[in-house]
Amino acid sequence: MARMIFHGQSCCEFITSDDTRLLVDPFLSGNPVADVGPDHFTDRLDYLLLTHGHGDHIGTHEDGADAWDILKATGAQLIATYEIASYAGEVQGIQNAHPMHIGGAYDFPFGRVKLTPAAHGGMINSPGAEGYTTNPVGMILALDGVRVYNAGDTGLTKDMELLEGHVDVAIVPIGDNFTMGPEDAGRAIRMIKPQVAIPVHYGTWDLIAVDPQRFIDAVAGAAEVKVVAPGDELEL
Ligand code: NI
Repeated sequence: MARMIFHGQSCCEFITSDDTRLLVDPFLSGNPVADVGPDHFTDRLDYLLLTHGHGDHIGTHEDGADAWDILKATGAQLIATYEIASYAGEVQGIQNAHPMHIGGAYDFPFGRVKLTPAAHGGMINSPGAEGYTTNPVGMILALDGVRVYNAGDTGLTKDMELLEGHVDVAIVPIGDNFTMGPEDAGRAIRMIKPQVAIPVHYGTWDLIAVDPQRFIDAVAGAAEVKVVAPGDELEL
């Protein structure tokens, strides 16, 4: 059974039963609530996945970003949109990348990854990224037979209805202002109908301070809500 460890904002680490290690959206060194720094992953990481290029997902800092630092230190494979993979290769010199795009799926050794639409911004907050603007995405990761939907940053869309029957665990932003708020996120869960819903992307700063009870109320029993704090680990 795969495990998930939450590291704050939208950063999730996944470890599969065969010990494949995946990291999604590492925002660590500048994250006021992160429980670990980027060095935590230098022992071993197999894949690093990005939903989009905003600073609170790649870990933008004055010299670049946590994502590039971790990829260079570990040799992990980057899984991201074509434009982000191109930026990583051409500007950051990271050649171990698997480019994908919205609607496409691929069977990796650890499981299947499918990218989904996300209604959000496409800027890559990193030096030299002009010309690499991309579409943000969500993703469905099939890990040990469990289908995990990581919505990325997105507003509520009717497209989410298409995910019904394809998702066991849904990780959704609830922080409002930049993404869905708790009521829209609850509505998304009622459309997707996963077994488990995990709220993220809130509470990191006052601007996105949200009581997760509002999300629980909005889900209205349509899924089991698991609220996680940075450092929390759960079985999927
Ligand atoms: Ni964003």
